[in-house]
Amino acid sequence: MSPKRPDYPRDEQLEAILAKELGRQRDKLEMIASENFVSEHVLRITASVFTNKYAEGYPDQRYYGGCEFADELEILTQARARKLFGAEHANVQPHCGSSANMAALLAVMKPGDNFLGMNIAHGGHLTHGAPVSFSGRVFKAHYYGVREDTELIDYDHVIRLAEELKPKLIMCGASSYPRIIDFEKFREAADRAGAVLVTDMAHFSGMVAAGLYPSPVPISEIVTSTTHKTLRGPRGGLILSKRTFAKRVDDEVFPGIQGGPLLHVVAAKALALAEALEPDFIDYQRQLLKNCARLAARLIDAGFRLVSGGTDTHLVLIDLRNKNLNGRQAEEALDKAGITANKNTIPFDKERFTVTSGLRLGTAALTTRGLVESEMDEVADFVSTALHNFEDDSKLKKIRERVASFSKKFPLYPGLDF
Ligand SMILES: Cc1ncc(COP(=O)(O)O)c(C=O)c1O
Repeated sequence: MSPKRPDYPRDEQLEAILAKELGRQRDKLEMIASENFVSEHVLRITASVFTNKYAEGYPDQRYYGGCEFADELEILTQARARKLFGAEHANVQPHCGSSANMAALLAVMKPGDNFLGMNIAHGGHLTHGAPVSFSGRVFKAHYYGVREDTELIDYDHVIRLAEELKPKLIMCGASSYPRIIDFEKFREAADRAGAVLVTDMAHFSGMVAAGLYPSPVPISEIVTSTTHKTLRGPRGGLILSKRTFAKRVDDEVFPGIQGGPLLHVVAAKALALAEALEPDFIDYQRQLLKNCARLAARLIDAGFRLVSGGTDTHLVLIDLRNKNLNGRQAEEALDKAGITANKNTIPFDKERFTVTSGLRLGTAALTTRGLVESEMDEVADFVSTALHNFEDDSKLKKIRERVASFSKKFPLYPGLDF
């Protein structure tokens, strides 16, 4: 006989918030380069009963009973991650990209050790050594960046720093670098320093999975990623590594920094990885790149200067200075026009982090909604008109109305209430 359950009333307050968020995602154009929309199946699996289960440890070495299916799940997810990326070892437990990076750094270094990461102001992530992050507080971070003339990574400087400082670890990968990274150059720098190469492929892991971006996996000892950006999985992280680093990485994820894995998210990662193994996923990544190239071309036609002159990826970084507005004003104007994006520092930016001179736009989420190149022309027009009229609220409101009817052509989660 089942125990009597309390008859919960509907939580209308909470449901209203969820419904508003769904409405926001449906009605606006999502151009934050680090966001995407998971499939309805991944969305459903993220809410599975595995949310109830504790499984500290790893398959066959758990600290809790009842983990037989958790083991099956984790083994399956690891196998899919290894297969998708051709990796020797996969840890699928990191709760997010930052904890994946924390585990990677701790697997290689002791507090106070030297490492080399990309300057956050040039496109690196907080966890690549920024002074406000654990990565810059626990370890001694040194930075490389881009050249002022080309706005491309200064590989000669990376190699010089590696030789001079002999860091224990070199980290590559970025949050707002629109170009392909030359992993071989980073390998050379790491070899000259006797350092471990860690690549954070959070932004481009979807393109790597599809074979449309060079893979850092064969030439890095450790590769970290988020699962929710171009990879189009649930919010989370993963770490791939050479077999020789497997135990150190695993020990740092658990018990080093995390407790029990979020198994419901691990289940959703398993499904997202299976989706990424399908041929459709390659088509999606191809389209995402075509869309970004088209967006870049149209923005350039409209007189915008793109950092590095363009893009090879899913994102563009606009230098707004010739348009006499800053990143904060641009973000606000786009928001009023129904387009979600983020202000971003550009290399050698003179503005504060809270203001910035740049705007980052990505095409991963719009491509998932089904937009193709011809529709990117319209999107570029919305963006350009909004930025050129950033102080004119009535014009921004008109764009917002156009954006709302345009968005309706690309239904998001039809049938879902919240
Ligand atoms: C390159 C890179 N690494 C790591 C992260 C951190 O991921 P999370 O927000 O899941 O901690 C981000 C986030 O945007 C990122 O851009």
